[in-house]
Amino acid sequence: MNIINDPQELQQHCLTWRRDGLRIGLVPTMGYLHDGHQALMRHARTLCDRLVVSIFLNPTQFGPGEDLDKYPHDPEGDKAKALACGTDLLFMPDPAAMYAANHATWIDVPDLGRHLCGARRPGHFRGVCTVVTKLFMLAQPEVAVFGRKDWQQLAILKRLVRDLNIPVDLVGHDIVREADGLALSSRNAYLTRDERAAAPAIRQGLVKLAEMVQKGERDPEVAKKFLRDEYAATLPMGTVDYIELVDPDDITPVAAVTGPVLAAVAVGMGRARLIDNILIEV
Ligand code: PAJ
Repeated sequence: MNIINDPQELQQHCLTWRRDGLRIGLVPTMGYLHDGHQALMRHARTLCDRLVVSIFLNPTQFGPGEDLDKYPHDPEGDKAKALACGTDLLFMPDPAAMYAANHATWIDVPDLGRHLCGARRPGHFRGVCTVVTKLFMLAQPEVAVFGRKDWQQLAILKRLVRDLNIPVDLVGHDIVREADGLALSSRNAYLTRDERAAAPAIRQGLVKLAEMVQKGERDPEVAKKFLRDEYAATLPMGTVDYIELVDPDDITPVAAVTGPVLAAVAVGMGRARLIDNILIEV
């Protein structure tokens, strides 16, 4: 596995691979890798000839007061995990190499960022879209794999790629969970023992909500109130940031459940803010 810090070097490498007719796969991450990231890498590995993994804690997607400075990191562990998944090239740039001091160009998909995390984290998806576009230009991938844990992120990136005709296939990967249902996240490292013990209730509540909708509840307000009450009972230390039922493609709240709907939540637990979602087919 080759480790590269310099963006120009990554681009040269990948352009050469492309000229040789090799199919490049990309998995972008912010590091502190876990089994969720590794599942993306293993899946990408089956879709390409050369696997590029990026580890870059992208400063532009963090707002003031968010956890940029505290985000967990373990570069040596990450290298071993990327290698174990068959990564050919690990890209670990410094922020200064990715963003010139007078960087002035931004990519944004505002229509899909009005709700859920986009509403709570102003500028977050602009930072994500900009860095992912840069990674696409550098690594020249034909396929890139993203997790459905960040459903809104994937929906936004799909729209960006379609609208700008970027020649890359975006592949979604199912959420990887702990045995008790908690979605894996680098931020789970922030949880205290008690918070960790309670956190599976996030998923359990979503499953109950899905059952309720599948049994015929069509009013999002009733479903949302059910989940709010459920969390009040099962997650007393959690503060609900949002509970929403949205259109899975447009990420806009639905007035009534008439087709597939995404139930998405964000819950604050001590220092952590955890997100999860469930796609409900009716
Ligand atoms: P990060 O949070 O490190 O996640 C990297 C990728 O792993 C994303 O596609 C995310 O959806 C996926 N992922 C995280 N936890 C997962 C889980 N439990 N199951 C399945 N997939 C999971 O998302 C980002 O980084 C950044 O915004 C990034 C796209 C790298 C841009 O900076």
